[in-house]
Amino acid sequence: MKAKTPQESYTLLTNIVLPSETNSLNNMFGGELLARMDRVASIAARRHCNQVVVTASVNQVSFDLPIPLDSVVSVSAKVSRAFRTSMEVGLEVWIEDPKKRTKKKANSAIYTFVAVDENNKPLVVPELIPQTEEEKQAYNAALRRKQLSLVLAGRLAPKEATELKALFS
Ligand SMILES: CC(C)(COP(=O)(O)OP(=O)(O)OC[C@H]1O[C@@H](n2cnc3c(N)ncnc32)[C@H](O)[C@@H]1OP(=O)(O)O)[C@@H](O)C(=O)NCCC(=O)NCCS
Repeated sequence: MKAKTPQESYTLLTNIVLPSETNSLNNMFGGELLARMDRVASIAARRHCNQVVVTASVNQVSFDLPIPLDSVVSVSAKVSRAFRTSMEVGLEVWIEDPKKRTKKKANSAIYTFVAVDENNKPLVVPELIPQTEEEKQAYNAALRRKQLSLVLAGRLAPKEATELKALFS
């Protein structure tokens, strides 16, 4: 299976915020943004493995800025590390002021996807080879995040989380 770079999975969705997608403060509803992020991240994961993927975990989401009605919102995603059958995908959300045309980072997130066959059985995915310094840092930290996610999901005993333990010793 041919190894891939993060750039090969890069996916970008740009859209505006409509009145039906806002809360009572006229800012974008968090669930609407999570749904957009899940779609963009799943496309990035599919582009990496060329298989059907399912969301296994939303590892981290940080809502840093409110996103006002009528903002132009860009959600970008790329695979940051591939494990055996799972892939970590990093996302960034940017908002563009329609009048000033300035851009601000509003949000970042990390999702995990698993490639599956028609019986929902996990499939092996290609290796990911990071290229830039930023991609290498994300790659190196991904095992730690995977172990944390597995511990929180009750799938890994804390004493087996070697990367997490190394942080505190
Ligand atoms: C995700 C899913 C396919 C995993 O299936 P499984 O039979 O438990 O398979 P495994 O235990 O072999 O796990 C598969 C991979 O997922 C990873 N994984 C599973 N849960 C995880 C979690 N919470 N966080 C991080 N990784 C996770 C495992 O570590 C493994 O990774 P690896 O092979 O790269 O090392 C299964 O739990 C599932 O179908 N979940 C529902 C997915 C879904 O419907 N999502 C949409 C929600 S609306």
